[in-house]
Amino acid sequence: MTPLTRREMLQRCAALGLLCGGGGIRGCVAEAFARAESGRVPTPRNEMGPFYRRKAPVQSVLRAPGDPGLPLTVVGSVWDVRGEFRPDATVEVWQANHEGRYDLEGYRYRGLLQTDPRGGYRFESVMPGHYPDRVAQHIHYLVRAPGCRPLITQLYFATDPAFDGDPDRNYGKDPLVLSRELIRPVLLTGDPGQPVAQVTFELCLERL
Ligand SMILES: [Fe+2]
Repeated sequence: MTPLTRREMLQRCAALGLLCGGGGIRGCVAEAFARAESGRVPTPRNEMGPFYRRKAPVQSVLRAPGDPGLPLTVVGSVWDVRGEFRPDATVEVWQANHEGRYDLEGYRYRGLLQTDPRGGYRFESVMPGHYPDRVAQHIHYLVRAPGCRPLITQLYFATDPAFDGDPDRNYGKDPLVLSRELIRPVLLTGDPGQPVAQVTFELCLERL
């Protein structure tokens, strides 16, 4: 491996969007190499929206027995750009119910999750409905971990009728969907008469 010159190191830092802070060039370069080797890039950010409520309860089962709508299970892991999974992260999620309504008085379909020892998270919900000010179904995320920039983003669904069966071409139909990467495949599992949608959404945090 050919050693990089100082100029090349700085250019690589700049290309990766890294700022040389208190760690100076040595810390910057170490971060640049760690990120390059991990091959992980931060999950795209997305708007927080107006319906966030602080102090969501710690709960992973957001749907109640008998709730209408398509049952939905979301799983994933939280990583950072160095490729290290984050067992110390919190994942806060909030969404509309199957009719596109947010609970603005209480905490239905809102929950705070703690990642497991492998950085994993999971919650049970229902497929969110559409609502007038938004084109696409979505779930909001706020992800935090020590030493990382908080990530605010949204999860979208490839099966959403808003994408007309072709999210690659049509994701821009919702002007707030700025990245195709946030639209995830939906796997239908379970009894054909009682399907459950399953989605995987991996999350990668930027380091401070
Ligand atoms: Fe929303």
